[in-house]
Amino acid sequence: MSNTKRKLNKLMKEGDQIVCVTCYDSSFSKILDKVGVDIVLVGDSLGMVIKGEENTHSVTMNNILYHVSNVAKNKKNFILMADMPKNSYEDFKTASSNAKELLKNKVDIVKIEYRDDHRETLENLISQKVPICAHIGLLPQYVYAKKDMRIYGKNSKEFEMVFQQAKTLEKLGVEIILLECVNSDLAKKITNSVKIPVIGIGSGENCNGQVQVLYDLIGISNNPPKFAQNFLKKSGSIEKALKDFYRYVKSIKIK
Ligand code: KIV
Repeated sequence: MSNTKRKLNKLMKEGDQIVCVTCYDSSFSKILDKVGVDIVLVGDSLGMVIKGEENTHSVTMNNILYHVSNVAKNKKNFILMADMPKNSYEDFKTASSNAKELLKNKVDIVKIEYRDDHRETLENLISQKVPICAHIGLLPQYVYAKKDMRIYGKNSKEFEMVFQQAKTLEKLGVEIILLECVNSDLAKKITNSVKIPVIGIGSGENCNGQVQVLYDLIGISNNPPKFAQNFLKKSGSIEKALKDFYRYVKSIKIK
């Protein structure tokens, strides 16, 4: 069993909420390691918060690898997750070589924005022992219009579709499901119906953990989502703000 799976199993067994924060450089990864966050995500949100773009679409594998190399310098205890950016997993060969490149560079688990047409690629990656976090609900890589920035699973057809995706992903062998902007009742149903960790963002508290964009937590994002909270406002220091977020997540009790 991989170290990542062992750590995740332990957290799940103990009913301990999983704390995940994005990160893009070594200074912040040092603080996040000290605070004790469970997962650090080199997310393609770097398109917005680092590159100053409107979305994640221009992020490349080289961008992700560069930020991974910086974040990994202070990797002691956290699980290092990295995004597969847009166009990096469109066919199996590309997906496999890119995922393996990330794993060679200290990444423990790769995150993929999952649509049903990625199923075969995912199956192939899993058969090659690539640990996968599958991201469902709002998929920023496939958002082209403002109307797509919404809560997913509000109507019964979409509720069922996202629920079935989660069940399929568990069956396929992904190690984590990440729900972005998923209806909170649906997030609760998924969390209660699968045995693997479910981490949410903008999907309510009834998940096994929460993920947030670092720059939203410290109030320096240009356009933070409505659900994001600036923890720096009250705390006065970055380290304390991240500790407060950590404590907040760890205090959540699934209902
Ligand atoms: O890229 C990212 O930061 C993400 C989070 C919003 C989950 O995917």
